Amino acid sequence: MDPTTPVLRDSNLYRYKGFCFFKELMPLDFIESLQDFEIRDDDVFMITYPKSGTIWTQQILSLIYCDGYRNGTEFIDTAEKVPWIEFRSYDKDADCNSRPSPRLFASHLSYNFVPPGLKNGKAKVIYVMRNPKDVMKSLYHFEAMANYAETSPDFGHFFHKFLDGDVFAGAWFDHVRGWYTHKDEFNILFIKYEDMIMDLRSVVKQMCTFLDKELDDESLDIVVKRATFNEMKKDPFANKENMPDNFFDLKIGKFMRKGTIGDWKNSMTVALNEKFDALFQEKMADLGLHFIWDMNGGI
Ligand code: A3P
Repeated sequence: MDPTTPVLRDSNLYRYKGFCFFKELMPLDFIESLQDFEIRDDDVFMITYPKSGTIWTQQILSLIYCDGYRNGTEFIDTAEKVPWIEFRSYDKDADCNSRPSPRLFASHLSYNFVPPGLKNGKAKVIYVMRNPKDVMKSLYHFEAMANYAETSPDFGHFFHKFLDGDVFAGAWFDHVRGWYTHKDEFNILFIKYEDMIMDLRSVVKQMCTFLDKELDDESLDIVVKRATFNEMKKDPFANKENMPDNFFDLKIGKFMRKGTIGDWKNSMTVALNEKFDALFQEKMADLGLHFIWDMNGGI
């Protein structure tokens, strides 16, 4: 029997063990084959729920490992420097297994789908999380520009879809809870998008310490400068302008959209916000995770 279930409202997604995968981009046999993916001690995995700062962290990691792009590596696609492990089906040239060490990888997978060798090992995981109201707002816009995702007629419709976990990657609550409650099984550093907004330099330093990468002040300055929103907004790779034509409709929106905290306030009604807060309390309070919800530092 087929263990997957189609996701209500979106015929392009199937749900398997709580995660929602794009059918064509992430076939189940490929996802399951990741269980045999061999992990090396010096691998670095950057993991996020979608729209939590993935490309930003990919950029930072690339900069840290590529000498601040002082060696011409800015002309190499970020996704080639930090490739996805779960989207290889559209990127057949990227043989993740044979890459030279140290290998950098990006993933949106929940903790139960990552290669088992990542558990209880030396390989490093950086998990980036973002306040879920802004994740929701960002994903709402992303859905509109991604040709392979179902577009919602309005934010209110999307709000319920997001809460039901009927979106790519499933429910935000499950993703964050899964990784956070299994943190003892991984060599993991948790980073928050909002902390990167508030003090990027400190977060980059924190990452470098975790990665055992010593950067002098000048190199650190370069990494921080090239990872700012305004710099990345000019970068065609950060904006995914090099993707195949059928992936994104870049006339509808930009990948580097606003890059701020609190944009959800421009779309969420008071009633929806109250509903969200109640659910957040119910599902997440026991974890003791705190997020910054607006630029005034509201927690
Ligand atoms: P918005 O849509 O809210 O602007 P991901 O890479 O996980 O898909 O996340 C994309 C989100 O991260 C987008 O959020 C994008 O603007 C934001 N982002 C990317 N680079 C950023 C940067 N350097 N500074 C701030 N936000 C950034």
